[in-house]
Order: sequence, then C-alpha cells, then structure tokens
Amino acid sequence: MSAIPALVPLPRSVATIETAPFQLSTQTPLRGDPDAAAEARRILSAATAHALDLPTNPLPSSSAITLARTSDIALPGGYRLTAADTGVEISASDSAGLAAGLHTLAQLVTPTSEGWLVPAIRIDDAPRFAYRGVMLDVARHFFAVSDVCAVIDRAASLKLTHLHLHLTDDQGWRLQLRAHPALTDAASGSAISGAPGGFYTREDYREIVAYAATRHITVVPEIDLPGHTHAVGLAYPHLAADPVVTPALTAEAAARGEALPAAGTPYTGLGVGFSSLRLDDEATFDFVADVLGELAHLTPGPYLHVGGDEAFGTAPDEYDAFLARVTQLVADLGKVPVAWHDAGRAKVAPETIGQYWGLTTPDTEGADAALAFVRRASGVILSPADAVYLDMKYDDDTPRGLTWANGPTSVRRAYEWEPSSVIDEIADDDILGVEAAVWTETIDDLAGLDAMMFPRLAAAAEAAWSAPLGSTPERSWESFRRRVGGLGPLWRRQGIAFHPDGQISWDQE
Ligand code: ACM
Repeated sequence: MSAIPALVPLPRSVATIETAPFQLSTQTPLRGDPDAAAEARRILSAATAHALDLPTNPLPSSSAITLARTSDIALPGGYRLTAADTGVEISASDSAGLAAGLHTLAQLVTPTSEGWLVPAIRIDDAPRFAYRGVMLDVARHFFAVSDVCAVIDRAASLKLTHLHLHLTDDQGWRLQLRAHPALTDAASGSAISGAPGGFYTREDYREIVAYAATRHITVVPEIDLPGHTHAVGLAYPHLAADPVVTPALTAEAAARGEALPAAGTPYTGLGVGFSSLRLDDEATFDFVADVLGELAHLTPGPYLHVGGDEAFGTAPDEYDAFLARVTQLVADLGKVPVAWHDAGRAKVAPETIGQYWGLTTPDTEGADAALAFVRRASGVILSPADAVYLDMKYDDDTPRGLTWANGPTSVRRAYEWEPSSVIDEIADDDILGVEAAVWTETIDDLAGLDAMMFPRLAAAAEAAWSAPLGSTPERSWESFRRRVGGLGPLWRRQGIAFHPDGQISWDQE
C-alpha cells in the first residue's frame, strides 16, 4: 500500500481495502458490546471535537460501527479493525483491545469537505509489551485531580496501560492517610521553588484510580523510600535522619540560588540524594508498614512502588537490609513490589520488578543492578533517562526542562532506541515493558505537561507497543516523523498543547 496513515503506535499489520472510505456522521449507528459503545461515543467525540450521537442500534445495518468480542484474537489488548464503505468492525477478546481499536479509529478519522472519512483499511494489531506506562511526579509540583485525569486520557489515547504516580519526595507528601494525617497536615503545603503544594484525599485518590480503570489504565502508586523523604521529617522529625549536605549539593544550591536542606524546614530546591529515613529505629519500620498497608488497601492494582533511588544519605548496609525488608512487606501485603534499579544490589523479595532509569548505554553498575532483578526471575521496566525522561529539554532553547540525562532529548533520540538492546542479557521475555517518566521540577501545569510529553510520549508508546526498532521499514524515525506529524490536527482537536517540534512537519487542518 502507499504510506501507512498517521497511526502511532505503529500497528503490526496494515493493509488497504479497495473500497471507498467509510463516512462517519453524528448518526452512525453503534452495534455490539454496550460498554465499548459508550467508549466509542466518548473517544470519537473527543477526536472530532463534536458531540457525536452515535445511537445504539442492534439491527444489522450498513454504515454501522460494530464492536465485537471474539475469542480468535489471543493477545490481551490486541484487536482487528476493518473499515470499508459499508461499515467499521472492531473485534477483540477483551475490553482493553476494543478500546485500543477505538483509539486507532480515532487516529484514522479525517475531516474533509465530504465529512468525516475513515480510509478503507484492515489492521491486525497487538502489543509487544504488556506494561506500557507513564510516570507523573506530583511531589515536585502538585497536580489537581482534573490534570491527572487529563494525563490518563492522553496516555489511553496512545494505548498505555499504567499510570505510575510518584506521590512523595523531599518537597512534599501528596497522599492523605488515615493512619498518619500528620503527613499531609505538616508536609504537603510545599513544592519546588515555593509553589503552593497540595495533596490528594483518600477519596481523590480513589477517584483517580476509578477514572483510570475506565480508560483501562492501572495506577501504580510510589512511596519513595528510604531517600527522597525530607518531607516525612516535617511531620515526624524522629523518623528522619539529618540531611547529608555534600560539597556538591552546596555548590549546586549556590549556583541556583537555593537554600540548603535543613531538618524541620520545607525543602523547595532541586537537589537530590541528601535525605533518609532513620533505619536504626524500629519506629521507622512500623511507620513504613502502616503507610504501605494503607496504600495497598486503597489500591486495587497489583503493584506498589517503593522507590529506592538515590539514597545517598543512607548507609549501604542499612539500605540493603531496608530494601529486603520493605519489598518483602509489600509481597506479604499481596502486592508486587516495584523499585528503581538501584535496589537490585539488595536482596529484595524475589518477585520485585526493577525499573531501570540509567542511560540507553548503561554503566556497569546500572546494568548489573537491573540484571539482578532478572536473575531473581522477576523482570524489568525500562525507563532509560536519555530517551523517555520527558522532563529533559528537547534542545537548548526549550523553556522548561533539565539536561542532566546526557544533554537535551530530541524527539529523534526519544524515538531511536530499542528496548532489547539497552542491557546485554535482558531481552523481551525479561522486559515487562516501557515507562516514560515526567519529573516536574520545571513543570507546573497541564500545558507544561503537554508540551514536554507530546510528541515524545508517542515515541515511548511506540517503543512499548510496536515491533522492534528497525524490524520493518515503518518502524523507523523517517516513518514515525511523518506519522506523528499527521497527528497534529487530532491533538489540536483533543486540546493537547503539544510542542510543535521543528524536526517534524506538522499537518494543518
Ligand atoms: C530517578 O530518576 N531518580 C529515578
């Protein structure tokens, strides 16, 4: 066929059908699965920026959109989509697959002088990795429930499956807990650079989890331990070790004109690695057990993330013993522990998933730590910082963002990496999936999230969903660049304030 339409992530197979296009109208009937029909109304209305009626009509009719549950599509999340002048049919074995097909349909719908048209096409599609995530840091800056829900909608449109919420850090504690209300009473009012802070009540958190579930997205909450915990000391001074202020931290703070961290005072700077819980006191373990127990209770999804990164303020032997104990605690709560790859050096519970956040060309220490999870027979989530840390600047002129992950991350660099090539000995079977991360030191609103996520989140989604980089002519930068440029009009209609990156030629409507 001629060039594949503007579809991201790239489907497994796309073939042209020799008929006229399908014409979508506000009265196009929907048939089949009623839940998927409601989703079709929502997804296609958002994609066209029109409130489409799409009435349900169980009678056979030409020009309908049919949403069928079928057992002949084996892979979870997979789907088949056929569009012809006579109708559109999407089939899948699960509701996530039907939704994935609908998001593909949303990308295919094109406004023309003859109305909304869908090219005649057959697509057979299924994901490469089951875990396709985005992490949102709500600790450095706080984001309202409505912003988090907007991020969930954006993630769902790219067929992502997991929202990892980084709920706690040195700058603030963002989740109210019944057992420890002091955490939000005393430690949620601060954020980076003096921004206002905030927190989610238990009801807010449940609302986010429930909203995500309607978009087939599972929330993975993170309580970062034992470092990144300065905020805990605002509520419970006896649980927090004194900040470890190194000459490097002092020099960085001076260069940025920031105050140094001080016990009992909110921290609003960008420094990392100076804080630790006190691990020589059983009271800390009681506290951690309370927090994770309540979080497990509030969280229907299978994963609890316990952080474990950059604990430079913790003695190495205490760190190892703590990570072993806390991951076992999570396992005993019936959840799968997840930890940043730093924890690979400790004897973590065997089911612990490691999240690799080093570079696409790892150093030996990072690669060994990530490999340790695989050797213990669990797996890894890949979040290479120089590819999918979406808080990195695109180039030197990007107003927001940081550059520590090997300089700015262009869209091309965000795209051109292959998950199975990052760490020797870690291949597809050991990779649970790919997660992009949006740290928010320099981002404080939804427009900022949009500008940093789009278009690079689309590149991460393609790494997570589509065939390996270079395995087909279309799984290439040149193809991605054309396809993603074709999504500009859709993103504008969906209200996504994407970064109009100069490497891409953006279609206009
Ligand atoms: C991290 O970026 N410290 C996980």
